[in-house]
Amino acid sequence: MNPLRHVAIIMDGNGRWGLKKKNSRNYGHLHGIKTVQKIIQASIKKEIKYLTLYTFSTENWKRPLEEINYLFKILENYIDKELNKLIEKNIKIKIIGNLHKIPSHLIKKLKRVEQITKKNNKLQINVAFNYGSRQEILHAVNKIHKKKAKINEKS
Ligand code: IPE
Ligand code: MG
Repeated sequence: MNPLRHVAIIMDGNGRWGLKKKNSRNYGHLHGIKTVQKIIQASIKKEIKYLTLYTFSTENWKRPLEEINYLFKILENYIDKELNKLIEKNIKIKIIGNLHKIPSHLIKKLKRVEQITKKNNKLQINVAFNYGSRQEILHAVNKIHKKKAKINEKS
């Protein structure tokens, strides 16, 4: 067993890469999927149990709408195209992040992929989607506050 159990990757530079290839930012985003595929394959080969992919951050809402929509479209297309392969490879998909403001048809698709793959146990891929560290801290503190529990080291 690989002692390295969890790998987390912040995807970055895709837009710049696309422009450098004398194309567009979106070209870079689309090509990024190929890198994701390679990372998944390598993770399986190395017997890594958890792979966290930071995809769309809360900061990314500042981008042009056309780019945001394209990123969402890539994710949707990926699920449509790869779902069967994910199941075959015994991969569990978990979406972490806030689904607020995400188009409802995409939420439906994300929930479905989570549901269908929930019993898989070869590799768990956490898709950090609409994530942000400030938001995460806020969410955790509010959860504790709601319970009216005193905050301790553990919580
Ligand atoms: C990573 O690449 C993909 C996303 C964050 C959606 P970027 O989009 O951050 O690309 P650069 O850093 O602007 O080149
Ligand atoms: Mg970037």
